[in-house]
Amino acid sequence: MALSDEINAIRQEFSQALKNADSDPDALEDLRIKYLGRNGKVQQLFPLIGQAAPDQRPRMGKLLNELKDTIQQTLEDSREQAERRQQEQELDLDVTLPGKQPYVGHDHPLVLTLQEMENIFASMGFVSVEGPEIETDYYNFEALNIPRDHPARDMQDTFYLEDDVVLRTHTSPVQIRVMEQYQPPVRIVVPGRVYRNEAISARSYCLFNQVEGLYVDEGVTFADLKGTVEAFAKRFFGPSANIRFRPSFFPFTEPSTEVDVSCMICGGTGCRVCKYQGWVEILGAGMVDPNLYQYVGYDAEKYTGFAFGMGVDRIALNKYGVNDIRLFYDSDLRFLRQF
Ligand code: PHE
Repeated sequence: MALSDEINAIRQEFSQALKNADSDPDALEDLRIKYLGRNGKVQQLFPLIGQAAPDQRPRMGKLLNELKDTIQQTLEDSREQAERRQQEQELDLDVTLPGKQPYVGHDHPLVLTLQEMENIFASMGFVSVEGPEIETDYYNFEALNIPRDHPARDMQDTFYLEDDVVLRTHTSPVQIRVMEQYQPPVRIVVPGRVYRNEAISARSYCLFNQVEGLYVDEGVTFADLKGTVEAFAKRFFGPSANIRFRPSFFPFTEPSTEVDVSCMICGGTGCRVCKYQGWVEILGAGMVDPNLYQYVGYDAEKYTGFAFGMGVDRIALNKYGVNDIRLFYDSDLRFLRQF
């Protein structure tokens, strides 16, 4: 048989043997020895080159080397494949399974509630501003008509950091900060955290969120306050929501009021959430006490205004049907991922 025929025969024989080896590592190693070993089938053909016609010898040498390289490369590839398959089996890895979705974070339910409130007020021309959570006594109390000996200081259980430095107990100090800097008309809302040293329970926590509102201009009346609060309530709680104003007291507003909304769970007939009252308190409000204008240099003869402070957490509790305020602050992902 001519050498070139032998080369072809061995090539075919090898590819059949490779199939039979079925990627088994031991069988592949046997094949390597059988074909490429020192006495292997390929090696044995090299001496035959000398028997070929002289002008054929270079071609034969080339063919033989190609055969050797092909077998070597094929065995190498098969071995790598076999190893990979074995690793996958050890890992019990099924590369055809769909991948895991990476978890992307999202807004906290309180943030969602705050944003919704801010958006509604923005549509009525209220600009959002923020203020510091660590406040001085002056802004948190003094400039809001609450001097040191004023009994209203008892209304709020204050965390003192130093003698004159507190964790703000409400967002109202931002009223003063804004009025100090800007002349009327001023129309702002202030979302943010406030802190009170209260007994922690399912309904109250040592910190919570408020949205403060302030509108000062020429000719602002209590009717504007009512209209604004009512428009907000209908947008936020739905067109069937009713509101009522109860007289109240705050040192920095006169007259003052507290506003209830008809219970969003039972619609007013009475249930556990509204403690069978049919109403849920949502904010304190009133006409800005003209005394405050002295602190900020406004002309009390010229300007009037209203302010409100809305409790965000309890509204969010009701909105999302959550029964424990502490869940908002526990950072438990099993809870938070539901929103
Ligand atoms: N700051 C008051 C509170 O926290 C709420 C309030 C704000 C009342 C603005 C009137 C006007 O209780």
